[in-house]
Amino acid sequence: MTKEQILEALGKVEDPVQKKDIVSLNRVLRADIIGNKIILDIEISSPTMHGKKKLEQEINDALHARFGTDFQLALHLVVQASSSRADNHQVLPGVKNIIAVGSGKGGVGKSTVASNLAIALMKTGAKVGLIDADIYGPSVPTMFDAQFVRPNVIQKADGKTYIEPVDNYGVKLLSIGFFSDQNQAVVWRGPMAAKALSQMFVDADWGELDYLVIDLPPGTGDIPLTMVQTVPVSGAVIVSTPQEVALADVRKAVSMFTNPNIHVPVLGLVENMAWFTPAELPENKYFIFGRDGVRKLAEEANVPLLAQIPLVQSVCESGDKGTPAALQETNPVTPIFKSLADKVIEQLEILSVKQA
Ligand SMILES: Nc1ncnc2c1ncn2[C@@H]1O[C@H](COP(=O)(O)OP(=O)(O)O)[C@@H](O)[C@H]1O
Ligand SMILES: [Mg+2]
Repeated sequence: MTKEQILEALGKVEDPVQKKDIVSLNRVLRADIIGNKIILDIEISSPTMHGKKKLEQEINDALHARFGTDFQLALHLVVQASSSRADNHQVLPGVKNIIAVGSGKGGVGKSTVASNLAIALMKTGAKVGLIDADIYGPSVPTMFDAQFVRPNVIQKADGKTYIEPVDNYGVKLLSIGFFSDQNQAVVWRGPMAAKALSQMFVDADWGELDYLVIDLPPGTGDIPLTMVQTVPVSGAVIVSTPQEVALADVRKAVSMFTNPNIHVPVLGLVENMAWFTPAELPENKYFIFGRDGVRKLAEEANVPLLAQIPLVQSVCESGDKGTPAALQETNPVTPIFKSLADKVIEQLEILSVKQA
């Protein structure tokens, strides 16, 4: 058994997304032999459970076909970093993909989408973090039942102190709301806001994450603008309701992200409150805010429509109760958030293929 033989065998294994073999795609980060043990680190573009299993199986099959059964395999699959991340490792070095969730205006469901997207990504088997950077109305503490949490500060081997994100439901969290008294209206202004925001990115111990979701402040003002300029965002998801007044602001948001000086790829749009469905009439759809407004805008702007999420009472209730809807297997929106997560992963993959 030699390294060359192993690479030759792996040359028959295809990357499920790029449809080329994993050796010529440089996906084999490590291939070593110790005794009868083969040690492999393989980079994967998709961390979905299904994709992982399939690739593991193919690698196993290829090695068995070449070497029979007289070896042990230690296989480690590593999620690929988005290429905007690979170029800029200073901020959040262990984070592979940063997804900013923005909106043209407040109240459209940005935090609801950010929170449930984080949960759905976590359920694919990925390591996920969520930063609530909405200085105007941090709501992640409520949505994750963490209103009274104060994150710990720890000292690490380098002598520096770090804020420890809070772990709830398997997602690591920090919120601008953790840095203020819940009952006191805090008006975060210029430098103070900038400092508190940067602490959550720079002075926090995020460790290794596959995805970090950021709940951005709404709109296209100075603060969201500065944030997307200072944080190396892999891509943005923009949330809107279908009515015309909201759509005007989405156009502005799309042009903020795609402005050549900002250059954050738009992964796609999410139409929230796309229709109302009463729990007792699950087949009925009432288009109370207009129909397909965001779908049409996505076509016009030539960006994907990632999801249409209905207005259902349980989404609001579960947010208020602190258990995001996507955690509940039987909630009608759970499959919609799952599909949103899959599409976001897919768009990040498409971007990394384009940028490679
Ligand atoms: N699809 C939905 N169905 C029911 N209620 C929703 C839905 N999306 C958001 N809400 C509710 O609407 C309110 C505003 O949503 P939120 O996510 O806080 O908006 P934003 O972060 O854009 O200000 C919250 O009370 C939330 O629970
Ligand atoms: Mg919000």
